[in-house]
Amino acid sequence: MTTQIALWLDNGKFTIGPKDIEHPGPGEVLIRNVAAGLNPIDWKIRDHGFFMVKEYPAVIGEEGAGVVEEIGVGVTNLIKGDKVFYQSFMTNRCTTFQQFSIIPADLAGKVPDVITLEQAASISIGIAPAALAFYGQRPQGFEYLPPWEDGGKDKYSRQPIIIMGGASSLGQYAIQLARLSGFSPIIATASPHNTDLLTSLGATHIIDRKLPIATFQEEVRKITSTPVELAFDTVSYPETQQALYDVLAPEGKMVVSTPPVVATKADDKKTILFVNGTFFLPENKKFGSRFMSALTRMIAEGEIKTPAIEVIPNGLNGVALGLERLKNNAVSGKKLVVRPWET
Ligand SMILES: NC(=O)c1ccc[n+]([C@@H]2O[C@H](COP(=O)([O-])OP(=O)(O)OC[C@H]3O[C@@H](n4cnc5c(N)ncnc54)[C@H](OP(=O)(O)O)[C@@H]3O)[C@@H](O)[C@H]2O)c1
Repeated sequence: MTTQIALWLDNGKFTIGPKDIEHPGPGEVLIRNVAAGLNPIDWKIRDHGFFMVKEYPAVIGEEGAGVVEEIGVGVTNLIKGDKVFYQSFMTNRCTTFQQFSIIPADLAGKVPDVITLEQAASISIGIAPAALAFYGQRPQGFEYLPPWEDGGKDKYSRQPIIIMGGASSLGQYAIQLARLSGFSPIIATASPHNTDLLTSLGATHIIDRKLPIATFQEEVRKITSTPVELAFDTVSYPETQQALYDVLAPEGKMVVSTPPVVATKADDKKTILFVNGTFFLPENKKFGSRFMSALTRMIAEGEIKTPAIEVIPNGLNGVALGLERLKNNAVSGKKLVVRPWET
């Protein structure tokens, strides 16, 4: 077989069409994609473009899971037939809204037996931002000692953390990493129907995200009087960013998932980090590679749970519909995935 089916994006429109299957280069593997995850960035790229997408027509899709089909020269950590999950980079050979992708072998995680490939396809983009921002090296991250390294587990007990958007994909993983690091209390904003879910992941207090944002500081103060040194706004709307910034300790650190739009004060010493949650940047590669093998173990041992998933029918034909649901904020607490081979 030399061609596959891909979902092509051009001028804001998706079409299904053929695409050549390439061979992996040195250090790379060819993956037969069993499942691909949908992300908000996909509809943003469709509607507005994105600086990292350089070639059009483009194949997008940021995360996937599948089976290793072919090994490039020098690959030692994977063999043909391994089940892997991975983040992609914005090139047409690597992205996941297609049946085959080529990725660097050292950034693939092995799928543990406790999850399906559909669940595995929904992990990489959600967990990378919190992992990099909390534990990555400066300036990519705040250099907290990771819970998967010696001495890191429970290291930050009695330190509060706030996760804005706890039910988002990024939020569910940020809560779990915060729990493994020992942060307490773990305060998350979410719709009340997600309280049990987020509590099961490690959140200790949920603030109803629909309360007037002006009451946010007061709600946090009801929970803790300890200064909040670390916070993550996973949804990063202007009003959530500002509310989080205002509640931070004088030298607190805050992560945002979209560019910061905070009104800062000239004399304050708070740090805002706009995380770029890709392991493909040269400065993130080493961290990404170590993290992916730690992540396989943490999932296998039940330390990290993957969000609920919904498989959208009709393979790549279902992507556009799924993205409309994400754009309309009509997906709560779960990930949408497609199976490219059902197209
Ligand atoms: N910088 C990076 O590297 C990076 C990487 C991935 C994603 N992102 C960005 O991060 C954002 C989140 O992505 P995602 O995939 O995690 O999204 P997602 O899973 O689709 O987020 C949906 C969730 O957002 C929650 N939500 C919406 N508005 C909220 C608000 N005002 N306050 C609190 N929660 C709210 C909803 O919670 P309830 O159901 O509880 O209402 C819903 O469950 C997106 O803007 C995405 O583009 C950035």
